[in-house]
Amino acid sequence: EIKGFTFDMDGVLADTAKFHTVAWRQLAEKLGVTWNDDLQERLKGIDRMGSLNMILAEDNLENQYSQEQKETLAAEKNDNYRQLISTLTPGDVLPGMQAFLDSLKANGYLMSVASASKNAPFILEKLGLADYFVGVVDPASLHAGKPDPEIFVRAGELLKLAPEQLIGLEDSAAGIQSINGAGQTSLGIGNSQVLSEADLNFENTAEVTLAAIQAKLG
Ligand code: G6P
Ligand code: MG
Repeated sequence: EIKGFTFDMDGVLADTAKFHTVAWRQLAEKLGVTWNDDLQERLKGIDRMGSLNMILAEDNLENQYSQEQKETLAAEKNDNYRQLISTLTPGDVLPGMQAFLDSLKANGYLMSVASASKNAPFILEKLGLADYFVGVVDPASLHAGKPDPEIFVRAGELLKLAPEQLIGLEDSAAGIQSINGAGQTSLGIGNSQVLSEADLNFENTAEVTLAAIQAKLG
């Protein structure tokens, strides 16, 4: 029986995936790396340094920069990103998600956040969502980011629930792998071809309701 939900944030709760894209793309172009849709999709869910390495690897540039230079580049991206998210308001909660969280709360489900973003607590505050969650996994404390299962395992532990009692929500392929590896039921939001490993698929956040989930679970 399902008793809790573990949430990715960027692209699931918050309309922020577009801002990550803008900031990374700007940096990529400055570094002379050609942007493409496939790279943009693969970056979803990947932590900050992992994302930078993925961008550099696009043109085999990973070894052209020292660790210190990479830290500077990642910090530059984050400064740009922080500027873009500084104006977030509750209006930037993705469609249907406020109502979904309210229905989960009303029905006694427990919720936690499994986001790779170090900006997650700030964003959840800005969106007015912080109080819905029992806890937010601190990504700085992880040994490995998504697709490793660790972050969703930890999000389940925060709720003191077993994997079989949990549904994890994700908009990234790396995140779905992480949920599956943690033994939770994976709910993918977005292109079902990209998220083909998800147990349940939804086109967009507006379609995610308790009734629709129950119908798909059968
Ligand atoms: C999320 C996003 C990624 C982002 C990562 C780290 O997983 O989907 O695009 O790179 O968080 O975010 P941060 O805010 O810490 O740079
Ligand atoms: Mg995401």
